[in-house]
Amino acid sequence: MTGENRPKYDVEIIRPQMTGHDVHLRTKPPAPAKLKALKKALQAFHTLETMAANIYKFQLTKEPSELNRQLIAAMCNEMTHLQDFQVKLYEYGLRPAFFRPAFWMVGFAFGFVSRLLGPKAILKTGIWVETKAVKHYAELLETVDWDEQTRKMIEKDQADEDGHINRWRNMLGQIH
Ligand SMILES: [Fe+2]
Ligand SMILES: [Fe+2]
Repeated sequence: MTGENRPKYDVEIIRPQMTGHDVHLRTKPPAPAKLKALKKALQAFHTLETMAANIYKFQLTKEPSELNRQLIAAMCNEMTHLQDFQVKLYEYGLRPAFFRPAFWMVGFAFGFVSRLLGPKAILKTGIWVETKAVKHYAELLETVDWDEQTRKMIEKDQADEDGHINRWRNMLGQIH
């Protein structure tokens, strides 16, 4: 789906409200083939968000700048995405990917190295990674048979990634 015909979500909301009633036990497990597809996709999203949250976390410096304020907001947003997929995995009786710590390390490396290189590298790294994420989201939205509630959650998260790209592009345009 392209940006124009994607449903609209409010990307200013970085942590949507959730109550205990929003957690659903999947008492009727899907057919094995579908469960396998769900597992693969949810684990992919979960590892991707682990990496994203870490990138922003390790890009942060102590300076009270607007960039750091936005990085904190983005980090919080990615932690929300991480929660979204972690909850879904456990609802289906699944578990996060065993090799997830490797993605934690990749996120740390991207974040840490771009921080050393400065604001331009920080913003360019964000744009590059988020562009890959949006594509990955589109692919998994299209190929997996999601229930309505999960699909909306994924679409909102994808819109957030788009929001991050726009924010970093604007900020990069302001650096001379
Ligand atoms: Fe995310
Ligand atoms: Fe993002």
